[in-house]
Amino acid sequence: MPNDLRLGVNIDHVATVRNARGGAVPDPVRAAVMAQEAGADGITAHLREDRRHIGDADIEALMEALDVPLNFEMAATEEMKEIALRHKPHAVCIVPEKREERTTEGGLEVAREENKLAHYIAPLRDAGCRVSIFIAADKRQIEAANRIGAEVIELHTGAYCDAHAEGHFSARDDELKKLQDMSAFAHSLGLEVHAGHGLTYDCVTPVAAMPEVKELNIGHFLIGESIFRGLPGAMAEMRRLMDAARA
Ligand code: PXP
Repeated sequence: MPNDLRLGVNIDHVATVRNARGGAVPDPVRAAVMAQEAGADGITAHLREDRRHIGDADIEALMEALDVPLNFEMAATEEMKEIALRHKPHAVCIVPEKREERTTEGGLEVAREENKLAHYIAPLRDAGCRVSIFIAADKRQIEAANRIGAEVIELHTGAYCDAHAEGHFSARDDELKKLQDMSAFAHSLGLEVHAGHGLTYDCVTPVAAMPEVKELNIGHFLIGESIFRGLPGAMAEMRRLMDAARA
């Protein structure tokens, strides 16, 4: 039976370590295949404009090597659209991208760019890619994502996870409430809801318990934890927590 809550494993950080030395190891494609064998329901890879981790050849190799769906994360640029249309991954997740950021810091501003984004995603949808939009838990952004024809939204869980990690529990609870309310709202519009960014063993449970959420995309923590437990072991504990939250 397919998992009621899918675990997507983001392998960008394997490429970050590889690129720190400029060679071929560790190979993110090998990590993706290992994650697939260990029960990942999908693999996520973000081809950034500056290619700081995943490279073009990685995307090509992932398309070749994987049986589970590839969730291709990208900024809404013409170059990335061309690459996505060439590979036609199962899903395309549109994320905001700033060169100076260390990671994807916020959600996409959909409401202000509605027309542009509607035109941008149309050919991706026509090519058969499921288009997902990475946004903050904000009603305006969700309504706009729905209007432009996205099928999926991924809610940015970073603010919730950061508040938890820093011990700001009142702010964390406020962020969690927003995620809960907005996942229910998005679901009521017919959008499929995913969530991710910053999730760890410590903070995944309340997000995994949100009944409308169908997929979690987790990278940095899982790849880090795999130093200690190996990737299958790191994933197994995350899977156990997700299943327990759902039960
Ligand atoms: N989802 C999206 C859209 C992201 O951009 C990222 C980070 O690349 C993640 C999920 C995974 O976040 P993390 O690496 O913090 O688990």
